[in-house]
Amino acid sequence: MLQWKGKVLKDSFGNTISGEWPNLIDSNNNKLEIDENGILGRKIENTISYEFHQKHTKGAFLRKFEKQKYHQINWETPYYKKIFDKYLANVDPTEKIAIDFGCGDGRFTEYLLLKGFQKIVCVDFDYKLLVSLSEFAKENSYEDNLLLIHSAIEDLQLVQGSFDLILSIRVLYYLNEKYEEGIKLFYDLLKQGGQLITSDPDMEGFILRTMIFDSLAYSLDSFEKRRFKEVQKDTNMWFRMFDEKEIAQIFSESGFIIEERHGISMFHNLLRVLQLRGMISEQEIEQNEKRIISMFNYFDENGRLFKDLVWNLRKP
Ligand SMILES: C[S@@+](CC[C@H](N)C(=O)[O-])C[C@H]1O[C@@H](n2cnc3c(N)ncnc32)[C@H](O)[C@@H]1O
Repeated sequence: MLQWKGKVLKDSFGNTISGEWPNLIDSNNNKLEIDENGILGRKIENTISYEFHQKHTKGAFLRKFEKQKYHQINWETPYYKKIFDKYLANVDPTEKIAIDFGCGDGRFTEYLLLKGFQKIVCVDFDYKLLVSLSEFAKENSYEDNLLLIHSAIEDLQLVQGSFDLILSIRVLYYLNEKYEEGIKLFYDLLKQGGQLITSDPDMEGFILRTMIFDSLAYSLDSFEKRRFKEVQKDTNMWFRMFDEKEIAQIFSESGFIIEERHGISMFHNLLRVLQLRGMISEQEIEQNEKRIISMFNYFDENGRLFKDLVWNLRKP
């Protein structure tokens, strides 16, 4: 039974976390409180990334956007899942402990559940997303399978060597200077032989998009700084981006073996931006849907222009 400060630790749904969950939480180093929604949480220190998510996004409700026809997330998510299917092809999920870092409202937590993972820790510092995920879990009877933690990745201390799989999709680049520390943290949390599946934006795709839709000055700035602004408002919030070699080097220096990488095509994003700007109509997309999908399928297999790179990494 997990305890923290003498209190028996309950999971996100009020159940006592018992021997069925191994001891994952380093209770000496975590000031975790159980809140009225049953989500384990702690006070989150202000960082650029936290401020950005509080002020500039309505929240990454990507599980919901996945169901919204012609949304970029609706176009791209099946390709993410296809990549995960490949990376997890030889994994028996039943006894495995997984963590979805920066889970949002659980777009890929749901994928892991459907894949057969039975114990998944979900961490995000955006509280409303965890509430949405908690409601989803209740509606679908997944309460025993999830442990929801409201925390920043960099603040949370979990027991090292506990996890078989870490999934962290489009999250780590928000750590900026602490990116390398984040990768190292993931390395330490994995068991030997454990697997990290992670993705971040790819520099070439981003620069292309920004040169077409924003300005030459901004695309050159981004290229030189190796940083981009996720929203084009007058913010000073630049996030790191990498080319393939730079990021591969970070993974190798942290001790990971790079097993595979696959890109998410840039074309879903281009189509969506053109649609939002009124240059391609929804009707035109509807009429050509099958042809669009077969083009996307082609670029998924053969393309070279990526929005994100998805990596399959192994702790030896
Ligand atoms: C682009 S969304 C991706 C969500 C999810 N991984 C997916 O692909 O559907 C990034 C998520 O990471 C969370 N996030 C960003 N930085 C974080 C940090 N330092 N600690 C915890 N969560 C973080 C955000 O709140 C957001 O939900």
